[in-house]
Amino acid sequence: MICKSIEFSNFRNIENEKIEFCDGINVIHGENAQGKTNILEGIYLFARGKSFRAFKDRELVRFGCDSSYMKLSYAKRDGENELGVEIPKGSTKKFYKNKIKADKTADIIGEFRAVLFCPSHLGIIKDSPSVRRRFLDVAISQLRPIYIKMLAKYNSVMEQRNTILKLDPEKRRQYEAMLEVYSDELSSLCADIAGMRIDYIKKLDYWMKIFFEEMMKGKETPKITYETNARENDFDTRESLKNRYLSLLKDNLEREYKNGATLYGIHKDDLKIELNGKDARFYSSQGQSRSLALAMKMAEGEISREHSGEYPVFLFDDVLSELDENRRSFILSKIEKRQVIMTSCEPLDFKELDKTNFIEIKDGKKCDITNFSLNDGENEDTSLDKEEFEYDLDIK
Ligand SMILES: Nc1ncnc2c1ncn2[C@@H]1O[C@H](COP(=O)(O)OP(=O)(O)O)[C@@H](O)[C@H]1O
Ligand SMILES: [Mg+2]
Repeated sequence: MICKSIEFSNFRNIENEKIEFCDGINVIHGENAQGKTNILEGIYLFARGKSFRAFKDRELVRFGCDSSYMKLSYAKRDGENELGVEIPKGSTKKFYKNKIKADKTADIIGEFRAVLFCPSHLGIIKDSPSVRRRFLDVAISQLRPIYIKMLAKYNSVMEQRNTILKLDPEKRRQYEAMLEVYSDELSSLCADIAGMRIDYIKKLDYWMKIFFEEMMKGKETPKITYETNARENDFDTRESLKNRYLSLLKDNLEREYKNGATLYGIHKDDLKIELNGKDARFYSSQGQSRSLALAMKMAEGEISREHSGEYPVFLFDDVLSELDENRRSFILSKIEKRQVIMTSCEPLDFKELDKTNFIEIKDGKKCDITNFSLNDGENEDTSLDKEEFEYDLDIK
């Protein structure tokens, strides 16, 4: 999968810009706070369906404007496509595929696939379980569109169930039958969601072992499993897994009433990472956990490739400068034959790479003449004049 270009209109600090990418390595460089990460944020919004760093979509709209538009052109084996998004400040955003409006955001997830790697991901091994669950959820959603719909359903059923759990004893008696229905529905969804997570984790385990052993020259071996309250034999069938989640809900109802919340289910599960038999979440060194995080991101790319037959786009936000020489050269040795779009304050760090497209960003604008270029002539100015851009975007 290749990201050919992205066009922005009033997105963050980018007023009107079209950025084109080559199918190898693209380095977006410039000083701090110029809009480099904003570009990756825009691209990744099409993979994830929402920003990886804004709480609310309205934050994405350029100060003083009513809405933002973006258009992403990308090529898959089956041809070129285009995704558009309109983000109005006062209402929900709308996605378009080849100019046709999608009913829901979930309908476009998986169309354009990308792996994002930013400095905060280097801490994923020791972060709270919710961060690892989010990693799983975002990665699986891009491969299996049904997953995101199931998660949304799960969250809404759990919310309704929690409303009953919060009622005082008098009132909740009349909702007992409904609570049972919700518990049954939740445990079915748990079995389906956990099943897909377990499938994914098996692949993650396989690829992380390969990358990690290569990086650490085979001295240590990681093991990745799904951590849940289900026992080994509960995983035999979907029915046994569902029954296990259901009995956890039934057996702990009193505790749940006390807490006013659902205490068991896939929203509590975790990704367990062991290194030589020790739990890496608690015992790995900073170096080990960084290497595990790197292996995890590279594995995410391989699983996506296995699934669809082509690599996703790799987006690295300022991450290479965070790594020591060994880990940095490991990553650089692995990104051949993949499209990478990375940001960096220092373009000179990448001068050893062949076929690199350098894009300099200043104050939300692409500089026409980059003062650092190894491939003169390839960085043509492709900006459209405003009228043509607005007409071309045509997604309102
Ligand atoms: N909604 C917005 N409208 C206008 N400018 C914004 C908006 N959100 C963020 N910015 C600006 O974007 C810049 C940060 O961009 P960023 O891409 O994070 O920088 P960097 O080049 O360091 O990666 C800051 O100058 C910030 O003020
Ligand atoms: Mg940045």
